[in-house]
Amino acid sequence: MVDGIALIGFMGCGKSTVGKELARRLNYHFIDLDTAIEHGEQMHIPQIFAQFSEQYFRDLEHQYLTEQRPHRVVLSCGGGLPIFARNAQLLQENWCTVFLDCSFEACYRRICHSTRPLVQNSTPDQLRVLYDSRRPLYENCCSLQIAADSSPFAVAGDIIKQLRLHRH
Ligand code: S3P
Repeated sequence: MVDGIALIGFMGCGKSTVGKELARRLNYHFIDLDTAIEHGEQMHIPQIFAQFSEQYFRDLEHQYLTEQRPHRVVLSCGGGLPIFARNAQLLQENWCTVFLDCSFEACYRRICHSTRPLVQNSTPDQLRVLYDSRRPLYENCCSLQIAADSSPFAVAGDIIKQLRLHRH
């Protein structure tokens, strides 16, 4: 089994829930990069966006990604992280990157009431455009693409099956 598994996908696709379940089953550590940033900076992400800027957050996101070591770790990445070439390159070089491919409708149901800055500042139509523009980038960056509309328990099981099958 691979040493470092990074989960990518749109906001609300289930990276954190699936990631925790996956880490539990593999006996790996679970790291949520957004939570690591919040702990490290002692600020919530909406605050970082508001007080500094999205670019400032993107730089932090990149810095925290470079600090992760892919040793028996399941890493949940923020939805925008793989969109940037410098991050996609790190994921491709150091991690087995798994794209949780979830429909926009299922993602939207989970995020529509959230305080995520991009959700607060966008209409549903704008979020769909963002979803459509990001999907091919997630596909390009990943080594494994998993349908993720089912329960987190089932998705974690599918990931393990595929990793064993392809000996990632
Ligand atoms: C973002 C996704 C969020 C968080 C930030 C920006 C994005 O993470 O990193 O609000 O650009 O899609 P989740 O995908 O975990 O919600």
